[in-house]
Amino acid sequence: MSLDDEKRLAAEAAAELVESGMTVGLGTGSTVAHLLPAVARRGLTDLRCVATSVATSEQARSLGIPVEEFNSLDRLDIAIDGTDEVTPDGWLIKGGGGAHLREKIVAAAADRFIVIGDSSKPVEKFTWPVPLELFAFGLASTLARLGDDVTVRPDTPPSPDGGVIADYRGPGLDDPATLAARLEADPGVAAQGLFPPSLVSEIFVARGKDVERTTIG
Ligand code: A5P
Repeated sequence: MSLDDEKRLAAEAAAELVESGMTVGLGTGSTVAHLLPAVARRGLTDLRCVATSVATSEQARSLGIPVEEFNSLDRLDIAIDGTDEVTPDGWLIKGGGGAHLREKIVAAAADRFIVIGDSSKPVEKFTWPVPLELFAFGLASTLARLGDDVTVRPDTPPSPDGGVIADYRGPGLDDPATLAARLEADPGVAAQGLFPPSLVSEIFVARGKDVERTTIG
């Protein structure tokens, strides 16, 4: 079974958690691209959905899933999203697609945040860079403070919120809480891609034909 098949299986399992009348946060990425048709196939009614990217919004609407701006809902019943990596204790690195600012806001608003992925996503220790979204205002000064460990991601358009997507490649990944606090402390950092276990409810990882479900919090 391919990793893409595993993404589809994890996404289909998570789609079963969505019920008519729910408020739903839709993540971003190739795993969520499998989630959206699975939700659409369920034929649910009275869903109110928000999307974490333009790509997700467009795909959802094309499938008949209603998507609204995230400005009137003050909470969500559930949010479902992929991840770049997940450690055994439930820390995530997200933002490979540059959507981590909106993804984190949506995850934080959700009563249940469900993470879906293929068998390549669980890792003992993080290896990915930590995606950042930097405010465009004062960008050169922010980069000067953050130092050589941070580089602007090449050929990447601004985020829907006008932010500049960058990546941190430096020490500290073995202590994500401390690194997250350090990155967030800079006023030029709008968001960083380390998601703490306190945000995560359950993780669905497909391995072959089986979907392993791990409850985090
Ligand atoms: C988007 O910015 C990311 O956080 C994605 O959610 C994450 O990279 C997972 O993407 P895939 O489902 O494509 O692996």
